[in-house]
Amino acid sequence: MKDELEKVRSAALEKIVRSPDISQLTQVQVEYLGRKGAVTRLLRQMGSLPAEERPVFGKLANELKDEIQKEIDSRRAELEKDEIAQRLTAESVDVTLPGIRPDIGHLHPITLVFEEIRRIFEGLGFQVATGPEVETEYHNFEALNMPRDHPARDMQDTFYINDEVLLRTHTSPVQIRVMLSQRPPVRVIAPGKVFRRDDDVTHSPMFHQVEGLAVDENITLGDLKGVLEAFVHRLYGPQTALRFRPSFFPFTEPSAEVDIRCVICGGGGCRTCSNSGWLEILGSGMVHPKVFEAVGYDPERYTGFAFGVGVDRLAMLKYGIEDIRMLYENDIRFLSQF
Ligand code: DAH
Repeated sequence: MKDELEKVRSAALEKIVRSPDISQLTQVQVEYLGRKGAVTRLLRQMGSLPAEERPVFGKLANELKDEIQKEIDSRRAELEKDEIAQRLTAESVDVTLPGIRPDIGHLHPITLVFEEIRRIFEGLGFQVATGPEVETEYHNFEALNMPRDHPARDMQDTFYINDEVLLRTHTSPVQIRVMLSQRPPVRVIAPGKVFRRDDDVTHSPMFHQVEGLAVDENITLGDLKGVLEAFVHRLYGPQTALRFRPSFFPFTEPSAEVDIRCVICGGGGCRTCSNSGWLEILGSGMVHPKVFEAVGYDPERYTGFAFGVGVDRLAMLKYGIEDIRMLYENDIRFLSQF
């Protein structure tokens, strides 16, 4: 029996030392100390021994059991330490490796110009207003003194959704919405998308405008000129000359279009300015009394100016972009330059 104990002992200790990981060590534990394990079995066989041998054998078998358990515990502690060490090496980070540069997104040139315009006008006391891109013909035309037979309402230019609803053709309907919802004094700009049935090198069916509106007592054409001059000088530099050309819009009287000295050739004449030396950038004027009547402002008491700037053109001039379609192709090689 003693030989038997010794055999079990040396086999068990051998297997414990050789266990490569915790799960195999646990198996060894079951194999020797479990309910059907070798040591347990030996203890059970004790009953067949002569009575005087039992205490001696029992003591030895229990000692063996304790020894195996102790060895297993210490081996387990060792293996756990190894595993932690292994994990630490495997998961360690080499802080001396060069980093992976994350791809940084870029703001679209239109967004950049919108933001610059917003900053300039906020500095002049204007607030930002918005309106829906899907508009009613009332806000887009009627209230802006554009009667039903006005050429701008021709099916050629406007995307109609039905008789009453359309994609706004300009940001001017935001003027109407602002005036319907607040009393003077009003100083707002309204940036946004506008839509027209046009598509070629210089026209896109969707493009961008910023509308401006200032209404108060005693607002004059001089205020309009001063504000637009400040705007152009901040956007393109104080050396940029402006020219106010008489024009016509149904919602302003008098009306003027504003040209700036060509920022590409400096006025000498080039392809961009069609050799005229000037570039048209916006329409403007003094708010028509009929528009004030439509929104319930007293035209005897209040005057105001309004303007509408084409933002795509400004962005093209600012960044030297030649084809308007580049703005909408979302070519990453183009966009990442800004
Ligand atoms: N809405 C006009 C257009 O899209 C631009 C414009 C002209 C806006 C004169 C105005 C204005 O506010 O006063 O062509």
